[in-house]
Amino acid sequence: MPLPRLRTAGTALLVTGAALLTRRALRRRIDASPLWPLPALEQPVSGQPRSRALKLRVARHEHVADGVVQLRLEGGHLAALPGWEPGAHLDLVLPSGLVRQYSLCGDPEDTSSYTVATRLIGPDEGGRGGSLEVHEALREGMEVEVRGPRNRFPLVDDATSYVFIAGGIGITPILAMVRAVDAAGADWRLLYCGRSRASMPFLEELEKPGGRVTFVAEDVDGRPDVRAFLGEGQGAAAGTAVYVCGPEGLMDAVASALPEGCTPHLERFAPAASAGGESPFEVELRRSGRTVAVGADTTVLAAVRAEVPNVAYSCEQGFCGTCQHHVLEGEIDHRDELLTDGERGDSMLICVSRARGTRLVLDL
Ligand code: FES
Repeated sequence: MPLPRLRTAGTALLVTGAALLTRRALRRRIDASPLWPLPALEQPVSGQPRSRALKLRVARHEHVADGVVQLRLEGGHLAALPGWEPGAHLDLVLPSGLVRQYSLCGDPEDTSSYTVATRLIGPDEGGRGGSLEVHEALREGMEVEVRGPRNRFPLVDDATSYVFIAGGIGITPILAMVRAVDAAGADWRLLYCGRSRASMPFLEELEKPGGRVTFVAEDVDGRPDVRAFLGEGQGAAAGTAVYVCGPEGLMDAVASALPEGCTPHLERFAPAASAGGESPFEVELRRSGRTVAVGADTTVLAAVRAEVPNVAYSCEQGFCGTCQHHVLEGEIDHRDELLTDGERGDSMLICVSRARGTRLVLDL
């Protein structure tokens, strides 16, 4: 059975002799570990290669609208940064250790840097400290760790036309998409809403393709009329790809205004509301040989972390996919809007999803 990590560590200890640990003692320690043996997955559940963290330098930290900071992160020593496509995001590991996801909004052809933008969300708006840290603690010249890029909001390339709807900082993934479809000569329209023009980044660029973009600054124009926008021109007809990124109210407005049979591509700022009324259940961690209880007021992730502290997670909101695990037995109550139907068959995001019955078995 391969023991890559432990063998490496053991070899280092034996060679230096610093820990006075013999090979036999090391073997005893490994065998005594309650989590051993725990074979590593050859391939992550998502099928995507595990991306290694990169150390990038904050080359630019600038205010591009009221309450919006844009970061340009450069690889410097790296020949070329991993590529990405519109809709992709980065995991940013902030100096405090918080990990947050930000959509890439720069040029995918630029392999020397990544660009992201974040709106400041204070605690009174439900902010959890990530955007505050980006705004107030990150400075030019600092080094940050990033993981990714990963794309959970991909742009389809076979639509007859594209309708984009962005609310606030939801413009970041949409901007990269708009550039791509415009460069490809596709038919597209965008509804871009914000609290005020001053709070809406990228206005100058988006005003150039005159006629394709409808701007709604709510302090002057009031709430956007999503139904009227969707009905304009050819409307959201069959073959039209509809992409929406923004707050929950905008998502709801789009969902209620879309014609029958039209399924939008959504990226939310927050997870969809829970159905409520949680029931406790238990989760067997098959490879670890443990069973944990998941209470009515806790998550699978929290229960698993109590037994397996290094289990991977990031957003804790069903956004990023980091906590996706294979489910070997049991019926899953999916609470995310990230996984595809195919993935939902035998995997779940343990930060938000639960069991429909009394028991799940995870390949963990
Ligand atoms: Fe991000 Fe679960 S931690 S989806």
